[in-house]
Amino acid sequence: MRRIVIVSNRVAPVNETASKGATGGLAVAILDTLRESNGLWFGWSGNVREAPVASPAIAEPTRDNPFETVTVDLTPAEHSGYYNGYANRILWPVLHYRTDLMEYHSEDFRTYQRVNANFVSQLVPLLREDDLIWLHDYHLMMAPRDLRQAGVKNRIGFFLHTPFPSAEVFATLPNHRELISSLCHCDLIGFQTPGDLRAFEDYITHEAGGQVHTNEEFEAFGRQFRAQVFPISIDPEAFAGAARESSRSNIANRLRESLDGRALMVGVDRLDYSKGLPERFLSFEHLLDRYPENRRRVTFLQIAPYSRTEVPEYKLIRSRLEGLSGRINGRFSEVDWTPLRYINRGLARKTLAGVLRHSRVALVTPLRDGMNLVAKEYVAAQDPEDPGVLVLSRFAGAAHELKEALIVNPLDYENTGEALQRALSMSLDERKERWSALMETIRQQDITAWRKSFIAALKAH
Ligand code: G6P
Repeated sequence: MRRIVIVSNRVAPVNETASKGATGGLAVAILDTLRESNGLWFGWSGNVREAPVASPAIAEPTRDNPFETVTVDLTPAEHSGYYNGYANRILWPVLHYRTDLMEYHSEDFRTYQRVNANFVSQLVPLLREDDLIWLHDYHLMMAPRDLRQAGVKNRIGFFLHTPFPSAEVFATLPNHRELISSLCHCDLIGFQTPGDLRAFEDYITHEAGGQVHTNEEFEAFGRQFRAQVFPISIDPEAFAGAARESSRSNIANRLRESLDGRALMVGVDRLDYSKGLPERFLSFEHLLDRYPENRRRVTFLQIAPYSRTEVPEYKLIRSRLEGLSGRINGRFSEVDWTPLRYINRGLARKTLAGVLRHSRVALVTPLRDGMNLVAKEYVAAQDPEDPGVLVLSRFAGAAHELKEALIVNPLDYENTGEALQRALSMSLDERKERWSALMETIRQQDITAWRKSFIAALKAH
């Protein structure tokens, strides 16, 4: 089998994830791909150092993990201009339709280019002739051009984990042509949903003056390549197993006791403005206002670990949520009932699986999201004999597949509140029917199908 070289901004701490089983969907997929191909995983070490180590750190294969990880450090200036700046204050908001939040500085683009070029120059000496190179996400959009300029002739694939916005929105980026002309050096570009692919096609035809042929063949900026849809997923059986086990754990018992028979609603998100958390809190408030019978009967648990804490827009959303959660609890709490439990820490994966299983309703209501694996994890975690209800934003990539969820527009918080009421009062028969259809969809397009189909398409080019 040909070696697969994965390049991503972050490299998950392999030993920790493997031993704790605390792996996210992407990490699981990548780890399996790497194990199967004795591959190599290249990316940022997570360290910021004034004087980074000159050569990358190489962790040799072990028996459990028969692949190499190669990591590089960032300087404080690179971390600020590339990660906090261009990736997370310019690309991230635009990819999520928040052009109003883009804070553009051309210096950040130069740093982004420099870091991409640096990744590539450290990677190239490690490459073998037959390697398949698989680049991940918006941090590395200039890398395909740099790889070709360094003379790399290998197959290159790129997968965008975020949405690809409409061409008009993408073109608000001052560097949109450079980014896309670089991506066109790939052999294969993967997107999460048909909507993302359509937006990209529109960009190629109308902004780049390129052509889209049948069979997903593209021509633009003097290059030929393919672009296709590969919806990322989870390992539903493994997650269901973890949920079953964890529902008998100590922490699950503590949660059950603390609820004292009340129905649990749950949300699990990084604390990010794209996740629609203020609107979600307002929809919960609407539920309690409009349907007072839920007071004392329902508890909403929002898990929202801090993310990208140095970026100002993330500080703002954090304080807004602190205000809103305080107001809702101040308005409705009673001596023995707190309606909203708002937690800014992550849970171990297995614990999370148990919490999801115990929740009557899940709120996955981002304003924009590439896919959102929590939606799929929630479904997989349910007890087939008594499944809960998924309330899902139409703007999450997952809504394209999970059509039997209660689909909402999160900007209409009153309507989302109505959907919560519907979810809480749904009959067991309807819950089972919806859940079976959702679970079947997830089983058919699981994480193994995702990675295998991407690699097969990359080889087949
Ligand atoms: C999103 C992105 C990933 C990123 C993750 C966590 O899912 O698509 O590329 O790794 O967020 O964000 P962070 O900035 O902590 O890596």
